[in-house]
This record gives sequence, C-alpha cells and structure tokens, in this order.
Amino acid sequence: MRRGLIAGNWKMYKRFDEAMVLASELKRYLTDLGHRDILVCVPFPYLKALADALGGSPVHIGAQNMHFEKEGAFTGEISGPMLVSVGCEYVLAGHSERRHVFGESDAWINRKILAALEVGLKPILCVGERLEQREQGATVDVVGRQLAKGLEGVPADAAAGLTIAYEPVWAIGTGRTATPEQGQEVHAFIRKEIRRHYGDGVADGMRILYGGSVKPENARALLAEPDIDGVLVGGASLKADSFAAIARGGL
Ligand code: PGA
Repeated sequence: MRRGLIAGNWKMYKRFDEAMVLASELKRYLTDLGHRDILVCVPFPYLKALADALGGSPVHIGAQNMHFEKEGAFTGEISGPMLVSVGCEYVLAGHSERRHVFGESDAWINRKILAALEVGLKPILCVGERLEQREQGATVDVVGRQLAKGLEGVPADAAAGLTIAYEPVWAIGTGRTATPEQGQEVHAFIRKEIRRHYGDGVADGMRILYGGSVKPENARALLAEPDIDGVLVGGASLKADSFAAIARGGL
C-alpha cells in the first residue's frame, strides 16, 4: 500500500570528488527497486552536481536542513526556494543533531516544515527520545510532543506530502539499534497520532521511517514490521555496497 523509502543522510562527510564517486556507484548498484524510493540527503555544496549526476536514476536528492525564510539577510543560511532551484526534492527537518547540537526548537522546526511544504519540498520530520527519557518511560510523551509541535498548522492535504522519521537519539551513531519491536511500538503510536489528527487517508498513506544504526544486517527485520515503511541511514549510507544492500531490503 505504501511505497518504501530508503534514505541516506551523509551528514558532514565526504569531499566533492568522493561524493561524486559514491553517487556513480549508487547509480550503478541501484537500478530497479520497484516498490521502494531511494533518497540521499547530501551536503549543500554538492546538491546541484549530484542532482544532475543522479538524474534519470532511481536515487532522489535531499538536503539535510534549510532556513524557513525565503530570502533575506541571514548569513550562512540556505532557503527552500534555493534548494528547489538546484533540483532538490526532499529536506530533513529536526534531525536530532540539529535539535541537540545546534539547539533547534520545535517552533523553528515547525516553521521549516511549513516553509518546505510551501515551496513544494517534501519534508522529513525527525523525532526521537533521548536515553534518559526512554528510561523514565517518557518516550511516547516526547515523540507525541515533537510530532504535535512539528506539525502545527499543517493541513491534511499538505500532511500527505510529509514523511516522519523516528530516530531514538540513543541509537544514532552508537551501534545500538532499537529492536524491531521497540521501533514498531513507537511507529504504531506515531501512526495512531496521525490518524487521530488527520484521519485514515493520511495515516494509511504516510511513510514512517526508522533511523539509528541501521545496517544491512538489521534492516530486514526492521523493514518487516508493519508500520516501518523505510529507514534513514547515516553511517551505512556512506558506502555504496552497504547502502545498496539496505535499499534491496537488507541481508
Ligand atoms: P546512523 O545515523 O545510521 O549513523 O546511526 C542515523 C541518522 O542520524 O540519521
């Protein structure tokens, strides 16, 4: 019913020449995946070249962040219209590193989501609890709040263009993955919240990705869960063979 989405997040890795090599390898490895979309969220300076290089391949291009204003005196920032103008289709919003390293608030993330939708970008709203919040039994409270605040003012027709990524902070870059059951539990909660807010059509169509130490070895079991529609992959997306193995459904 829902098309899968396998997304890579290259973060602040790779020089331009290395990025171009990775893109050409991905193009070679990922020819026809039928029921899954493939996406790589790449550093800003490489967007245009990678969008051109991957044109006509099944690999779509996204950015890792954006500013919510269309233009203005915001030194060092990149706007939604700028992203669209270089062939970018998707954008991450509220990745845990943006929240916790750069102090982005739910209110800012919400403005980014609204701004992305306005210019026709497909935002991926990232949510997830920290370890101490999970240990205190606060996971659904935290995720529910991030979701509600992130989606404030987003109407149902626009929400249909959105993807959610559940990334428990304690699983990102740590080698410690949530079990498929832990992932499914939170994904089912997220879909229930979307259903309560937007109804069956949006909830049944919305893609909810899992992220946090996803590798070829654990992807298959995660993707087998009914509410896990894809994955957001950091470290393992930096090598074409491991990302391609995940995109094919894992080992
Ligand atoms: P990881 O990163 O796969 O390296 O844990 C995931 C992410 O931050 O999106």
